[in-house]
Amino acid sequence: MRKRYLATLVLSAIFFAACGGESKKTETANSASTQESPAADNSMVSPNANKPVSKGETLIAESDCKTCHKEEIKVVGPAFKDIAGKYPNTPENVDKLADKIIKGGSGNWGEVAMLPHPNVSKEDAKEMVNYILSLK
Ligand code: HEC
Repeated sequence: MRKRYLATLVLSAIFFAACGGESKKTETANSASTQESPAADNSMVSPNANKPVSKGETLIAESDCKTCHKEEIKVVGPAFKDIAGKYPNTPENVDKLADKIIKGGSGNWGEVAMLPHPNVSKEDAKEMVNYILSLK
């Protein structure tokens, strides 16, 4: 009598486990398939997929700026954040800094000179400055 009782208990335990297991499986399968497409899209764009990438940021990434500049810390040149802190985003400053990118020079941050970038157009240089000055 006792054995039979146990058997029923074990059987029903198996039954419930099987049921529970199965419904869980379909659930995870469903949620995986709904999450798949946006996740795949993100990996195509960039690691910072949520951040819109501006034209200036792209131009900087494609140029040599990052060999001397980082966003947060001083390397050879000042950190982009420090530049943003020094210059308010006015048309005059954007113009002046765009010229500096093209012509190079030193004196505003120290003795080390920035290389000239004669191949960068004034328009592109302004896009870069707009991006740098947005990093406050
Ligand atoms: C060879 C290293 C080097 C490279 C490459 C470089 N920079 Fe610089 N950059 C510097 C240095 C050094 C300074 C500080 C100049 C000074 O003291 O006036 C500077 C300063 C600046 C400034 C501030 C200018 C000022 O007068 O305050 C901006 C804006 C800037 N860089 C943007 C860029 C951009 C955009 C690029 C890529 C197109 C770039 N830099 C590439 C070294 C570099």
